[in-house]
Amino acid sequence: MTFRYIGSKARVVEAIARQIGAPRGSCRFVDLFCGTGAVAQAAARMGWDVHLNDTLHSAVTMAAGRLITPSSARFDRLGGYRSAIETLNALPAIAGFLHREYSPASVDRIGFERRYFTEQNAGRIDAIRAEIRAWRALDRIDESEELLLIADLLSAVNRAANIAGTYGCFLSKWQAQAHEPMALRARALFDGEGAVTTSVGEARDCQVGPDDLAYIDPPYTKRQYAAYYHILETVTLGDTPVVEGVSGLRPWRSKASDFCYRNRALGAFTELVERLDARRLLFSYSDDAHIEIEILTKALRSYGAVIPVQIQDIGRYRPNRAASRAAASVSEYLIQLDRKQMKAAA
Ligand SMILES: C[S@@+](CC[C@H](N)C(=O)[O-])C[C@H]1O[C@@H](n2cnc3c(N)ncnc32)[C@H](O)[C@@H]1O
Repeated sequence: MTFRYIGSKARVVEAIARQIGAPRGSCRFVDLFCGTGAVAQAAARMGWDVHLNDTLHSAVTMAAGRLITPSSARFDRLGGYRSAIETLNALPAIAGFLHREYSPASVDRIGFERRYFTEQNAGRIDAIRAEIRAWRALDRIDESEELLLIADLLSAVNRAANIAGTYGCFLSKWQAQAHEPMALRARALFDGEGAVTTSVGEARDCQVGPDDLAYIDPPYTKRQYAAYYHILETVTLGDTPVVEGVSGLRPWRSKASDFCYRNRALGAFTELVERLDARRLLFSYSDDAHIEIEILTKALRSYGAVIPVQIQDIGRYRPNRAASRAAASVSEYLIQLDRKQMKAAA
Protein backbone atom coordinates (compact mmCIF):
# COMPACT_ATOMS: atom_id res chain seq x y z
CA MET A 1 0.00 0.00 0.00
CA THR A 2 1.26 3.46 -0.78
CA PHE A 3 1.74 5.88 2.07
CA ARG A 4 -1.21 8.12 2.78
CA TYR A 5 -1.14 10.61 5.60
CA ILE A 6 -4.22 10.53 7.82
CA GLY A 7 -6.38 13.55 7.06
CA SER A 8 -4.30 14.63 4.07
CA LYS A 9 -6.26 17.02 1.87
CA ALA A 10 -4.48 15.92 -1.30
CA ARG A 11 -7.74 14.64 -2.78
CA VAL A 12 -9.76 17.78 -2.08
CA VAL A 13 -7.05 20.37 -2.47
CA GLU A 14 -8.51 21.99 -5.58
CA ALA A 15 -11.83 22.65 -3.89
CA ILE A 16 -9.99 24.11 -0.90
CA ALA A 17 -7.82 26.25 -3.17
CA ARG A 18 -10.96 27.77 -4.72
CA GLN A 19 -12.08 28.90 -1.27
CA ILE A 20 -8.65 30.24 -0.39
CA GLY A 21 -8.49 32.41 -3.51
CA ALA A 22 -5.61 34.69 -4.45
CA PRO A 23 -3.80 36.81 -1.85
CA ARG A 24 -4.83 40.43 -1.45
CA GLY A 25 -2.10 42.81 -0.34
CA SER A 26 0.64 41.78 2.00
CA CYS A 27 -0.57 38.77 3.91
CA ARG A 28 0.43 35.16 4.43
CA PHE A 29 -1.28 31.81 4.19
CA VAL A 30 -0.57 30.31 7.62
CA ASP A 31 -1.04 26.54 7.61
CA LEU A 32 -1.19 25.88 11.34
CA PHE A 33 -1.52 22.09 11.05
CA CYS A 34 0.42 21.64 7.83
CA GLY A 35 0.77 17.82 7.73
CA THR A 36 2.04 16.92 4.26
CA GLY A 37 1.74 20.53 3.08
CA ALA A 38 -0.63 19.70 0.21
CA VAL A 39 -2.81 22.74 0.92
CA ALA A 40 0.08 25.10 1.58
CA GLN A 41 1.59 24.12 -1.74
CA ALA A 42 -1.67 24.95 -3.51
CA ALA A 43 -1.72 28.33 -1.77
CA ALA A 44 1.90 28.99 -2.73
CA ARG A 45 1.03 28.19 -6.35
CA MET A 46 -1.63 30.90 -6.19
CA GLY A 47 1.00 33.42 -5.10
CA TRP A 48 0.68 33.37 -1.31
CA ASP A 49 3.64 33.74 0.99
CA VAL A 50 3.34 30.70 3.23
CA HIS A 51 4.04 29.87 6.85
CA LEU A 52 4.06 26.16 7.77
CA ASN A 53 3.49 24.94 11.31
CA ASP A 54 2.93 21.55 12.89
CA THR A 55 3.83 19.90 16.19
CA LEU A 56 5.80 17.30 14.23
CA HIS A 57 9.20 18.07 12.72
CA SER A 58 8.53 15.39 10.13
CA ALA A 59 5.36 17.11 8.93
CA VAL A 60 7.04 20.51 8.63
CA THR A 61 9.93 18.88 6.76
CA MET A 62 7.62 17.04 4.33
CA ALA A 63 5.62 20.23 3.76
CA ALA A 64 8.62 22.53 3.37
CA GLY A 65 10.26 20.03 1.01
CA ARG A 66 7.40 20.64 -1.42
CA LEU A 67 8.25 24.32 -1.57
CA ILE A 68 12.01 24.18 -2.10
CA THR A 69 12.94 25.96 -5.32
CA PRO A 70 15.89 25.18 -7.64
CA SER A 71 17.65 28.39 -6.58
CA SER A 72 17.52 27.39 -2.89
CA ALA A 73 18.84 23.87 -3.51
CA ARG A 74 21.72 24.15 -5.94
CA PHE A 75 24.01 21.66 -4.20
CA ASP A 76 27.01 23.49 -5.64
CA ARG A 77 29.49 21.61 -3.47
CA LEU A 78 28.11 18.22 -4.45
CA GLY A 79 27.78 18.65 -8.19
CA GLY A 80 24.05 19.43 -8.15
CA TYR A 81 20.87 17.91 -6.70
CA ARG A 82 20.83 14.74 -8.78
CA SER A 83 24.45 14.04 -8.07
CA ALA A 84 23.83 14.43 -4.30
CA ILE A 85 20.97 11.93 -4.55
CA GLU A 86 23.13 9.47 -6.51
CA THR A 87 25.90 9.70 -3.94
CA LEU A 88 23.46 8.97 -1.11
CA ASN A 89 21.88 6.06 -2.98
CA ALA A 90 25.30 4.48 -3.48
CA LEU A 91 26.13 4.37 0.24
CA PRO A 92 26.49 0.91 1.80
CA ALA A 93 24.12 0.03 4.65
CA ILE A 94 25.31 0.51 8.24
CA ALA A 95 24.04 -1.12 11.43
CA GLY A 96 22.64 2.04 13.00
CA PHE A 97 19.61 2.88 15.13
CA LEU A 98 16.87 2.00 12.63
CA HIS A 99 18.58 -1.24 11.77
CA ARG A 100 18.79 -2.15 15.45
CA GLU A 101 15.22 -1.14 16.39
CA TYR A 102 13.02 -1.42 13.31
CA SER A 103 14.31 -4.36 11.29
CA PRO A 104 14.48 -8.09 12.08
CA ALA A 105 17.84 -7.34 13.74
CA SER A 106 15.77 -6.14 16.71
CA VAL A 107 15.42 -9.80 17.71
CA ASP A 108 18.91 -9.68 19.21
CA ARG A 109 17.92 -7.01 21.71
CA ILE A 110 14.21 -7.51 22.40
CA GLY A 111 13.59 -11.11 21.42
CA PHE A 112 11.24 -10.42 18.47
CA GLU A 113 11.45 -8.92 15.03
CA ARG A 114 10.09 -5.45 14.40
CA ARG A 115 9.41 -5.86 10.70
CA TYR A 116 9.11 -2.23 9.63
CA PHE A 117 12.02 -2.53 7.19
CA THR A 118 14.25 -5.26 5.88
CA GLU A 119 17.69 -5.21 7.49
CA GLN A 120 19.20 -3.97 4.28
CA ASN A 121 16.78 -1.07 3.87
CA ALA A 122 16.94 -0.05 7.55
CA GLY A 123 20.73 0.00 7.30
CA ARG A 124 20.56 2.15 4.18
CA ILE A 125 18.25 4.64 5.85
CA ASP A 126 20.75 4.82 8.72
CA ALA A 127 23.62 5.40 6.31
CA ILE A 128 21.84 8.09 4.31
CA ARG A 129 20.65 9.94 7.40
CA ALA A 130 24.18 9.88 8.86
CA GLU A 131 25.67 11.19 5.63
CA ILE A 132 23.18 14.07 5.39
CA ARG A 133 24.11 15.02 8.94
CA ALA A 134 27.83 14.85 8.12
CA TRP A 135 27.40 16.98 4.97
CA ARG A 136 25.62 19.64 6.98
CA ALA A 137 28.25 19.58 9.73
CA LEU A 138 30.98 20.03 7.11
CA ASP A 139 29.00 22.82 5.43
CA ARG A 140 28.77 20.90 2.18
CA ILE A 141 25.01 21.57 2.15
CA ASP A 142 23.01 24.44 3.59
CA GLU A 143 19.81 24.35 5.63
CA SER A 144 17.39 24.16 2.67
CA GLU A 145 19.44 21.50 0.93
CA GLU A 146 19.52 19.47 4.15
CA LEU A 147 15.76 19.85 4.54
CA LEU A 148 15.15 18.75 0.95
CA LEU A 149 17.28 15.63 1.33
CA ILE A 150 15.56 14.67 4.58
CA ALA A 151 12.17 15.20 2.90
CA ASP A 152 13.31 12.96 0.03
CA LEU A 153 14.47 10.39 2.58
CA LEU A 154 11.04 10.46 4.27
CA SER A 155 9.39 9.72 0.92
CA ALA A 156 11.79 6.83 0.33
CA VAL A 157 11.16 5.51 3.86
CA ASN A 158 7.40 5.57 3.19
CA ARG A 159 7.87 3.56 0.00
CA ALA A 160 10.01 0.94 1.76
CA ALA A 161 8.04 0.57 5.00
CA ASN A 162 6.21 -2.69 5.72
CA ILE A 163 3.10 -1.00 7.08
CA ALA A 164 -0.59 -0.63 6.34
CA GLY A 165 -0.48 3.14 6.01
CA THR A 166 0.83 4.36 9.37
CA TYR A 167 3.72 3.46 11.64
CA GLY A 168 1.35 2.55 14.48
CA CYS A 169 2.37 -1.04 13.79
CA PHE A 170 4.30 -3.09 11.25
CA LEU A 171 2.86 -5.95 9.24
CA SER A 172 3.81 -9.46 10.29
CA LYS A 173 3.99 -10.60 6.66
CA TRP A 174 6.41 -8.86 4.35
CA GLN A 175 4.87 -6.85 1.55
CA ALA A 176 6.59 -6.92 -1.83
CA GLN A 177 7.41 -3.20 -1.72
CA ALA A 178 9.36 -3.63 1.52
CA HIS A 179 11.81 -5.90 -0.32
CA GLU A 180 12.51 -3.34 -3.01
CA PRO A 181 15.88 -1.64 -2.44
CA MET A 182 15.20 1.69 -0.78
CA ALA A 183 16.31 4.64 -2.90
CA LEU A 184 15.87 8.39 -2.87
CA ARG A 185 14.28 10.00 -5.93
CA ALA A 186 15.04 13.53 -7.03
CA ARG A 187 11.80 15.46 -7.16
CA ALA A 188 10.64 18.25 -9.46
CA LEU A 189 11.43 21.31 -7.37
CA PHE A 190 8.85 24.01 -6.71
CA ASP A 191 8.47 26.65 -9.34
CA GLY A 192 7.37 29.68 -7.32
CA GLU A 193 8.68 32.84 -5.75
CA GLY A 194 6.78 33.43 -2.54
CA ALA A 195 8.43 33.49 0.88
CA VAL A 196 8.23 30.31 2.97
CA THR A 197 8.77 30.24 6.72
CA THR A 198 8.32 27.40 9.19
CA SER A 199 7.80 26.69 12.86
CA VAL A 200 7.42 23.51 14.88
CA GLY A 201 5.03 23.73 17.78
CA GLU A 202 1.49 24.10 19.03
CA ALA A 203 -0.80 25.94 16.63
CA ARG A 204 -2.01 28.16 19.46
CA ASP A 205 1.54 29.50 19.96
CA CYS A 206 2.01 30.46 16.33
CA GLN A 207 2.30 34.16 15.45
CA VAL A 208 -0.45 35.07 13.01
CA GLY A 209 -1.11 38.64 11.86
CA PRO A 210 -4.56 40.24 11.44
CA ASP A 211 -4.29 40.18 7.63
CA ASP A 212 -3.00 36.61 7.42
CA LEU A 213 -5.32 33.80 6.39
CA ALA A 214 -5.18 31.13 9.09
CA TYR A 215 -5.86 27.64 7.73
CA ILE A 216 -6.83 25.21 10.45
CA ASP A 217 -6.89 21.50 9.68
CA PRO A 218 -6.49 19.72 13.02
CA PRO A 219 -6.87 16.00 13.76
CA TYR A 220 -10.53 14.91 13.72
CA THR A 221 -10.32 11.65 15.58
CA LYS A 222 -8.46 9.93 18.40
CA ARG A 223 -5.51 8.96 16.20
CA GLN A 224 -2.47 10.76 17.54
CA TYR A 225 -0.08 11.71 14.76
CA ALA A 226 2.97 11.73 17.03
CA ALA A 227 2.43 8.02 17.72
CA TYR A 228 1.26 7.02 14.24
CA TYR A 229 4.24 8.63 12.51
CA HIS A 230 6.91 8.09 15.18
CA ILE A 231 9.49 6.62 12.81
CA LEU A 232 9.25 9.59 10.44
CA GLU A 233 9.94 11.85 13.41
CA THR A 234 13.00 9.80 14.35
CA VAL A 235 14.35 9.85 10.79
CA THR A 236 13.80 13.61 10.58
CA LEU A 237 15.49 14.35 13.88
CA GLY A 238 18.17 11.72 13.33
CA ASP A 239 18.16 10.99 17.05
CA THR A 240 18.25 7.74 19.01
CA PRO A 241 15.39 7.84 21.53
CA VAL A 242 14.61 5.07 23.99
CA VAL A 243 11.76 3.27 22.25
CA GLU A 244 9.31 0.83 23.72
CA GLY A 245 6.57 -1.69 23.13
CA VAL A 246 5.96 -3.96 20.19
CA SER A 247 5.83 -0.96 17.84
CA GLY A 248 9.00 0.62 19.25
CA LEU A 249 7.31 3.95 19.95
CA ARG A 250 9.52 6.91 20.73
CA PRO A 251 8.25 9.06 23.65
CA TRP A 252 5.33 10.93 22.08
CA ARG A 253 2.94 11.92 24.86
CA SER A 254 4.32 15.46 25.15
CA LYS A 255 3.03 15.89 21.58
CA ALA A 256 -0.41 14.41 22.22
CA SER A 257 -2.97 16.67 20.59
CA ASP A 258 -6.02 17.98 22.46
CA PHE A 259 -7.92 17.78 19.17
CA CYS A 260 -7.71 13.98 19.40
CA TYR A 261 -9.76 13.81 22.62
CA ARG A 262 -13.51 14.00 22.21
CA ASN A 263 -13.93 15.88 25.47
CA ARG A 264 -11.16 18.43 24.75
CA ALA A 265 -11.53 19.09 21.03
CA LEU A 266 -14.13 21.88 21.17
CA GLY A 267 -12.19 23.69 23.91
CA ALA A 268 -9.04 23.36 21.80
CA PHE A 269 -10.85 25.02 18.87
CA THR A 270 -12.17 27.93 20.88
CA GLU A 271 -8.85 28.49 22.64
CA LEU A 272 -7.12 28.56 19.26
CA VAL A 273 -9.56 31.07 17.77
CA GLU A 274 -9.17 33.30 20.81
CA ARG A 275 -5.37 33.20 20.60
CA LEU A 276 -5.09 33.98 16.87
CA ASP A 277 -5.26 37.56 15.62
CA ALA A 278 -6.22 36.61 12.06
CA ARG A 279 -9.48 38.11 10.85
CA ARG A 280 -10.05 35.39 8.27
CA LEU A 281 -9.84 31.78 9.38
CA LEU A 282 -10.56 28.71 7.28
CA PHE A 283 -11.25 25.40 9.01
CA SER A 284 -11.25 21.96 7.41
CA TYR A 285 -13.46 19.51 9.20
CA SER A 286 -15.43 16.40 8.42
CA ASP A 287 -18.75 14.93 9.44
CA ASP A 288 -17.30 11.81 11.06
CA ALA A 289 -15.22 13.85 13.49
CA HIS A 290 -15.27 14.27 17.27
CA ILE A 291 -17.35 17.42 17.07
CA GLU A 292 -20.52 17.61 14.99
CA ILE A 293 -20.32 20.28 12.30
CA GLU A 294 -23.41 22.04 13.68
CA ILE A 295 -21.87 22.27 17.13
CA LEU A 296 -18.60 23.57 15.77
CA THR A 297 -20.23 26.20 13.56
CA LYS A 298 -22.45 27.31 16.46
CA ALA A 299 -19.38 27.77 18.68
CA LEU A 300 -17.55 29.70 15.95
CA ARG A 301 -20.51 32.04 15.40
CA SER A 302 -19.75 33.77 18.67
CA TYR A 303 -16.52 35.06 17.04
CA GLY A 304 -17.86 36.38 13.75
CA ALA A 305 -19.61 35.52 10.49
CA VAL A 306 -19.45 31.81 9.70
CA ILE A 307 -19.89 30.24 6.26
CA PRO A 308 -19.77 26.44 6.13
CA VAL A 309 -19.18 24.92 2.69
CA GLN A 310 -19.50 21.21 1.98
CA ILE A 311 -16.68 20.65 -0.45
CA GLN A 312 -16.85 16.98 -1.32
CA ASP A 313 -18.07 13.53 -0.36
CA ILE A 314 -14.99 11.37 -0.24
CA GLY A 315 -13.73 8.15 1.24
CA ARG A 316 -11.38 9.92 3.63
CA TYR A 317 -8.27 7.91 4.46
CA ARG A 318 -8.97 5.16 6.95
CA PRO A 319 -6.44 2.83 8.48
CA ASN A 320 -8.25 -0.40 7.66
CA ARG A 321 -11.07 -1.96 5.66
CA ALA A 322 -13.42 -2.33 8.62
CA ALA A 323 -13.24 1.41 9.24
CA SER A 324 -13.87 2.09 5.55
CA ARG A 325 -16.95 -0.14 5.53
CA ALA A 326 -18.29 1.53 8.66
CA ALA A 327 -18.59 4.88 6.91
CA ALA A 328 -18.36 4.61 3.15
CA SER A 329 -19.00 8.27 2.50
CA VAL A 330 -17.55 11.14 4.46
CA SER A 331 -18.30 14.77 3.81
CA GLU A 332 -15.45 17.22 4.00
CA TYR A 333 -16.33 20.75 5.03
CA LEU A 334 -14.61 24.06 4.91
CA ILE A 335 -15.81 26.57 7.44
CA GLN A 336 -14.86 30.17 6.94
CA LEU A 337 -14.86 32.46 9.95
CA ASP A 338 -14.68 36.14 9.19
CA ARG A 339 -14.45 38.23 12.30
CA LYS A 340 -13.76 41.61 10.72
CA GLN A 341 -17.04 43.16 11.79
CA MET A 342 -16.84 41.83 15.30
CA LYS A 343 -13.28 43.21 15.78
CA ALA A 344 -14.30 46.56 14.32
CA ALA A 345 -17.22 46.79 16.73
CA ALA A 346 -15.11 45.81 19.74
C1 LIG B 1 -5.40 16.53 9.49
S1 LIG B 1 -3.63 16.62 9.58
C2 LIG B 1 -3.27 17.95 8.49
C3 LIG B 1 -3.29 17.47 7.07
C4 LIG B 1 -2.76 18.49 6.07
N1 LIG B 1 -3.68 19.60 5.88
C5 LIG B 1 -2.50 17.79 4.74
O1 LIG B 1 -3.19 18.07 3.74
O2 LIG B 1 -1.61 16.94 4.71
C6 LIG B 1 -3.39 17.32 11.17
C7 LIG B 1 -1.96 17.73 11.51
O3 LIG B 1 -2.01 18.46 12.73
C8 LIG B 1 -0.86 18.19 13.50
N2 LIG B 1 -1.23 18.59 14.88
C9 LIG B 1 -2.00 17.93 15.77
N3 LIG B 1 -2.22 18.69 16.87
C10 LIG B 1 -1.59 19.88 16.67
C11 LIG B 1 -1.47 21.09 17.41
N4 LIG B 1 -2.05 21.21 18.58
N5 LIG B 1 -0.76 22.11 16.88
C12 LIG B 1 -0.16 21.98 15.67
N6 LIG B 1 -0.22 20.85 14.92
C13 LIG B 1 -0.94 19.81 15.40
C14 LIG B 1 -0.59 16.74 13.25
O4 LIG B 1 0.76 16.41 13.51
C15 LIG B 1 -0.97 16.59 11.77
O5 LIG B 1 0.14 16.73 10.94
